Amino acid sequence: MSVRVYETPEELAEAAAREFAARAEEAIEERGRFAVVLAGGSTPETMYEILASDYLGRIDWSRVYVFFGDERNVHPDHEDSNHKMASEVLLDHVPVGNVHRMRGELPPDEAAEAYEEELRTFFRTEDVPRFDLILLGIGADGHTASLFPGTPALEVNDRWVVANPVLKLDTTRITLTIPIINAARAVIFLVEGEDKAEALGEILEGDADPYAYPAKLIQPPGGPKWMLDQSAASLLDEHSL
Ligand code: 6PG
Repeated sequence: MSVRVYETPEELAEAAAREFAARAEEAIEERGRFAVVLAGGSTPETMYEILASDYLGRIDWSRVYVFFGDERNVHPDHEDSNHKMASEVLLDHVPVGNVHRMRGELPPDEAAEAYEEELRTFFRTEDVPRFDLILLGIGADGHTASLFPGTPALEVNDRWVVANPVLKLDTTRITLTIPIINAARAVIFLVEGEDKAEALGEILEGDADPYAYPAKLIQPPGGPKWMLDQSAASLLDEHSL
């Protein structure tokens, strides 16, 4: 696992955009396409804006295949839609034709099955579905994607996408499962803000039950890469940095 700390959220976003572009170039060179999973929430917005403004001509967007790690049970026009957020700050501004959104407007089980079918069609030539890059965030409770503490999706090993009831939010989310995330060639966590510092301390240095901090369960080959801003890293022991 690698942990990098950046002075400000802007420096974090710049570095994350560079990382995205480098991995896109490598994947397109080696495999002819870049299959990437976008994170939802608010943290990645600045990175997406930088990709749209500074990397328009520096990435072969026609070879980029965009997927989502999770989605809320809402229509794509709804303000809570991760697809809406990503479209407004990135996808509407770059010539990317291959966008695979989760259909949050459908009943969650139906949406999850449909998306798993779409992934099985996309990865049909590969026995293990290996995204080139998966971007993730974390919540102050240690959740990632829509893998929340104590929820049923944490136990799922035979599906790639599930509908996950999250009682504390009184909703059901659609989310990639842990096995498909851990099969990725690269996983990057983008984390900013003091409100995440305690959970980060537990995830990176603590010994709490991983099911209480689901981001701990994300262990792709070689480990995930953590890109943090100073505030989020404020409680970390400098020796683990
Ligand atoms: C979502 C995300 C979720 C997000 C964290 C952090 O749909 O909400 O996939 O896992 O990454 O909740 O959200 P913020 O970046 O808004 O703090």
